[in-house]
Amino acid sequence: MSFGFEVIHKDIAGRVGKLKVGEKVIRTPALLPVINPHLQLVTPREMADLGVEALITNAYIFYRSAQYREQALAEGLHKLLDFDGVIMTDSGSFQLSVYGDVEVTNKDTLSFQKAIGSEIIVPLDIPTSPAADYETAKHELAVTLERLDEAREFMGEDCQLAAPVQGGIYTDLREEAGAAVSERGFTFCPIGAVVPLMESYRYQDLVRVVMAAKKGLSPAACIHLFGAGHPAMFALAVAMGCDLFDSAAYALYAKEGRYMTVHGSFKIGELAELPCACSVCRSHTADELNKAPDRERLLALHNLYVTLAEISRIRQAIQDGTLWELVDERCRGHPRLLSGYRELLTYADELEQSDRVSKRRFFYRGSESCLRTEVGRYHQMVSRFTLGAEVLVSFDGTEIEGYDDCLLFRPPFGPLPQGLSETFPVGQHEVPDWDDEMVLRGCEGIAALQESHPDSAITVLCTREWEPLVRAALPDVGVILNDI
Ligand code: GUN
Ligand code: ZN
Repeated sequence: MSFGFEVIHKDIAGRVGKLKVGEKVIRTPALLPVINPHLQLVTPREMADLGVEALITNAYIFYRSAQYREQALAEGLHKLLDFDGVIMTDSGSFQLSVYGDVEVTNKDTLSFQKAIGSEIIVPLDIPTSPAADYETAKHELAVTLERLDEAREFMGEDCQLAAPVQGGIYTDLREEAGAAVSERGFTFCPIGAVVPLMESYRYQDLVRVVMAAKKGLSPAACIHLFGAGHPAMFALAVAMGCDLFDSAAYALYAKEGRYMTVHGSFKIGELAELPCACSVCRSHTADELNKAPDRERLLALHNLYVTLAEISRIRQAIQDGTLWELVDERCRGHPRLLSGYRELLTYADELEQSDRVSKRRFFYRGSESCLRTEVGRYHQMVSRFTLGAEVLVSFDGTEIEGYDDCLLFRPPFGPLPQGLSETFPVGQHEVPDWDDEMVLRGCEGIAALQESHPDSAITVLCTREWEPLVRAALPDVGVILNDI
């Protein structure tokens, strides 16, 4: 299948990459705005001017439209939409289940998408409802996989086919689905049927489902999160390894008078100020925007600016190695997003495998930071320290004669040999005043050191403030008090 996906920078499971679609290349993470030919608040040409390299439209809308069907077949989508970038079409599985008035088979939509010049073609998958029971989800997944096989056979090897990953809310099915599409050699894999989860703020379930799918999928596959359009959750999704998003949200929100920010959305009538640097917001007051005759278009433009800017910010964060900090910041915008973030942190061991070794810095942003990949990795690394028989871990830097090794205590990581004091993460971290979580997590590092060095006797030189906590956390380690 003629997709090429090259990963250039990594952070957590996120990546900055280049997706080759035929002769065209798009930079990822990328946002594919959804175009509805009947309702073009912002035209594809304007989008291209804003830096949009790919967009998505629904083949089903063209298929059943008296106005556009023949034109699309005659001219192709690129001419009809006046867009030179990559155009992906969705089969409209979702819409079919809603309108359902025009019958379409898998082969019908595949031939139609090809005939109108789509560059990324989506077979007729079945988006399984989160409410579906296990047997239904399993059956619908089997049908989706049959349709992918049929699509491969029908369209030939060199066709750019997307392979949706379904499986409902069942993590074993999602993993199976991911493995199944990767085994079949598909390299462009949208994770499907997550819209209902996002609409009801079920971010914890979203994380479970996406992480399960990713476990089955090849790390070389380019992953699209179907229907994810709110910028507040992009960083979280990218951290899990999602590369592409498609957004109708910029337009749908505009229709409802909603103004997007990376922290959430606001009713435009409730805003006194427009906290954004885009041209719409700099040339209108909140009141002017609310009362503008073309309010819907202006809001759509602003929403699109915010969405695209967040994608740029994420790409930069990945290059800098500061994606955890961005995820932390974004996920505090809504309590349910915070639940999603906390869920993601439970996968730290898995994420650690893809995470990069060195980053610009580690900013401590609260107790969640204790569970970051870098801390777990450090706790594994302490087993490789070379130690003498008597080892001191000093909380305040005081050294005592008579020990073979003197290590510093650097929460949330733990024991720090002098030789690592300039290295990431422990040498490049910024923490505020110590808190209990941070010190307890650091004690886990001391425990890991003791466990991996049974021939060394470790003693912690502790300050009075932390003594009770450290004694409780490290019952098998000697603790002495520096009481100066
Ligand atoms: N758009 C949002 N979710 C889905 C999905 O699961 N499948 C398809 N084809 N399109 C979608
Ligand atoms: Zn704006």
